[in-house]
Amino acid sequence: MNILLLGSGGREHALAWKIAQSNRVDQLYIAPGNAGTREVGENVPLKATDFPALKQFALDHDVQMVVVGPEDPLVQGIYDAFQADEATRHIAVIGPSQSGARLEGSKDFAKDFMLRHGIPTARHLSVTAANLAEGLAFLETLSAPYVLKADGLCAGKGVLILPTLDEAKRELQEMLGGMFGQASATVLIEEYLSGIECSVFVLTDGAHYQVLPVAKDYKRIGEGDQGLNTGGMGSVTPVPFADEVFMEKVRTRIIEPTVRGLAEEHITYKGFIFLGLMNVGGEPYVIEYNVRMGDPETESVMLRLRSDLVELLEATWQGTLDQHPVETDPRAAACVMLVSGGYPEAYEKGKVITGLDEAATQGSVLFHAGTAVNGDDVVTSGGRVLAVCSYGATKEEALAQSYRVADMIRFDKKYFRRDIGFDL
Ligand code: AMP
Ligand code: GLY
Repeated sequence: MNILLLGSGGREHALAWKIAQSNRVDQLYIAPGNAGTREVGENVPLKATDFPALKQFALDHDVQMVVVGPEDPLVQGIYDAFQADEATRHIAVIGPSQSGARLEGSKDFAKDFMLRHGIPTARHLSVTAANLAEGLAFLETLSAPYVLKADGLCAGKGVLILPTLDEAKRELQEMLGGMFGQASATVLIEEYLSGIECSVFVLTDGAHYQVLPVAKDYKRIGEGDQGLNTGGMGSVTPVPFADEVFMEKVRTRIIEPTVRGLAEEHITYKGFIFLGLMNVGGEPYVIEYNVRMGDPETESVMLRLRSDLVELLEATWQGTLDQHPVETDPRAAACVMLVSGGYPEAYEKGKVITGLDEAATQGSVLFHAGTAVNGDDVVTSGGRVLAVCSYGATKEEALAQSYRVADMIRFDKKYFRRDIGFDL
């Protein structure tokens, strides 16, 4: 079949790489893709949120499946847009309906959903301008640090963790006053959970589910998890503390009530659920839901997925996921992200990348995140540039291999963290 994959980052290159390995695929198109995805499919210059253009392209090219990488098209209702039209209704859109995408698009909705279904998460209060006084009083009942979250999508920037009550009160008012525009018209005040995080990826067809390899990502720019938040500086899988005992709790307390809850509420959901979990003394709590795969977790998770991804996605659409257990590579995998100097603040683009050909022969897999083609050169075009992904018998081996290859790739002001996995 012909597949259209939406998005342009390292996650999408990893998904494209895995999809292209399936003998179920005739043509793989990526909209808009990047310099890496063109090696495994055909890039199409369409925006992932331009639904009329995507529908027309799908019809013109006999696309039978649309795989949605990022959250924006899902939150904007791509599933419903394809379903609404007689001509495109037969096309499998892998991702939730707009109603299901509220699990990521509205933190307030996600919290209420978890409360309705008894899913463990931090205590919280939702605050708008109308109940500010109640919000300030709730802050006084909590202890430091204080967690404030914008309700809506903020490209990963909507969470503030504040060390003092005064700062929390001030920032709450700033957020409600429009710090993130409409996205922070409602703000969630949350109890701070102390523990270690991991990312659990689930595929559901609405009735059944399968769990993909568990990963951990590293969001801060600096070693030791210091400094500003980024889109992700690396990832590893598996996560040692996500053992059989922990995962059994995740399945029974979180995944099953989530899938059942969606069905009970008649929310159509055929796609990925990403559980951002906090392990608090061995007990899993949901920090957040995302309605797509994670970046840069996907880059290492795809290395360890032995099953045919396209078969899994077809089963997701057809409602037969129970017949498709996920096969996992027993090796560890690690991803080290090479970024532009200055990122996540101002940085320069257009730097020529060299050493790629030699790096490609070293047994690692290179996923492009922010690259572009300029004549004969591959150049940087984003903050996060390349994900260097490797297997190893252990995560240490996988990381050592990624660092060796990372050193072979050169561009002006290249930076990467050398301590991915340090806390595991
Ligand atoms: P989110 O955008 O919801 O993933 O939040 C960004 C980050 O803030 C998470 O990855 C956590 O590291 C942290 N965080 C969010 N909520 C909490 C919480 N209730 N307690 C502790 N840390 C949190
Ligand atoms: N790695 C976290 C995310 O994709 O949101």
